[in-house]
Amino acid sequence: MKDVRKRARELMTGYCKVCPICNGKACAGEVPGMGGLGTGSSFMSNVSALASVRFNMRLIHGAEIPDTSTTLLGRKLSMPVLAAPIGGVSFNMGGKITEQEYCDAVLGGCVDKGVIGCCGDGVPPFIIESGFATIQALGGAGIPFIKPWEDKELYEKLDRAVATGADVVGMDIDAAGLVTLRLMGRPVGPKPLDKLKDIISHVPVKFVLKGVMTPDDAKRAVDAGAAGIVVSNHGGRVLDHTPGTAEALPAVAAAVKGQVAILVDGGVRTGGDVLKMLALGADAVMIGRPFCTAALGGLREGVGKYLDQVRGELAQAMILTGCASVADAGRDILFGA
Ligand SMILES: Cc1cc2nc3c(=O)[nH]c(=O)nc-3n(C[C@H](O)[C@H](O)[C@H](O)COP(=O)(O)O)c2cc1C
Repeated sequence: MKDVRKRARELMTGYCKVCPICNGKACAGEVPGMGGLGTGSSFMSNVSALASVRFNMRLIHGAEIPDTSTTLLGRKLSMPVLAAPIGGVSFNMGGKITEQEYCDAVLGGCVDKGVIGCCGDGVPPFIIESGFATIQALGGAGIPFIKPWEDKELYEKLDRAVATGADVVGMDIDAAGLVTLRLMGRPVGPKPLDKLKDIISHVPVKFVLKGVMTPDDAKRAVDAGAAGIVVSNHGGRVLDHTPGTAEALPAVAAAVKGQVAILVDGGVRTGGDVLKMLALGADAVMIGRPFCTAALGGLREGVGKYLDQVRGELAQAMILTGCASVADAGRDILFGA
């Protein structure tokens, strides 16, 4: 990973410093770019909220070789980790690889390691087209996330997403705040409950709603028929001054756990972070920015190396907290919880 990160630092010059800890401080306000919006506080809160969660070490048990695997939305995964949807390699990362190379690296690397990657959406259209092409080439192994466009564009893209063979399709409803898209004549916006129901019932595969930060929105997502939700503030890129997702997650889990698959993203960097999110109520996590450096620095192989690292860290943290399987990651592994 050292070489991968070094190469990424060279290729992302001016866009990402590939900091030792990716926490949003050095890139505050850099949107477009790799940072968080405004003061960068929402991105930073994601990282600091997770850092403030600490483990109980438990060693008198038999969980010597933990099982990191799980089943999520009908898919067996080697661990509860997904690559988050990320689009715009040129204007966010410096464009030293193409959007297609990025999608192939991230989603292909995920398949190699038994997990699943997502693809993002945006303007120009080749962002989502690249993701669709990769998912199709991988026989449907990927989750396309479509922006909350207005009707015609939304339904057309959802139909295209299903046609890739993907058995799960998502929408990042939190992109409703991207005024830049509206200014470009491509409006996105929030969706009232009845509209969301229509959208979800239109899609013949499982539907995941990304950008849920409150128990009320989580309940509405369940009412609308979502199979999964992602507790996410879009990596702090749409609204300044939100709580970290690790802070929002427990109340969301208390409201809808067991009724819908609960995913979370924001600031997850290590296998220890993955375990913390599971203990706070998630069924799986998404990781964003670290996949950008892994893909830029080492393409599909770099992504595989990063996933190996996360899996090793997760197994280590499970041993030291006494979790034989990911289902054992409850509140009791957290200090003071
Ligand atoms: C450069 C960049 C582009 C992104 N593009 C999208 C996108 O197209 N669709 C989407 O749902 N989320 C997008 N996101 C948000 C990520 O999916 C994810 O929520 C966020 O990166 C998680 O935080 P982390 O990077 O701290 O792990 C983007 C994030 C970044 C940094």
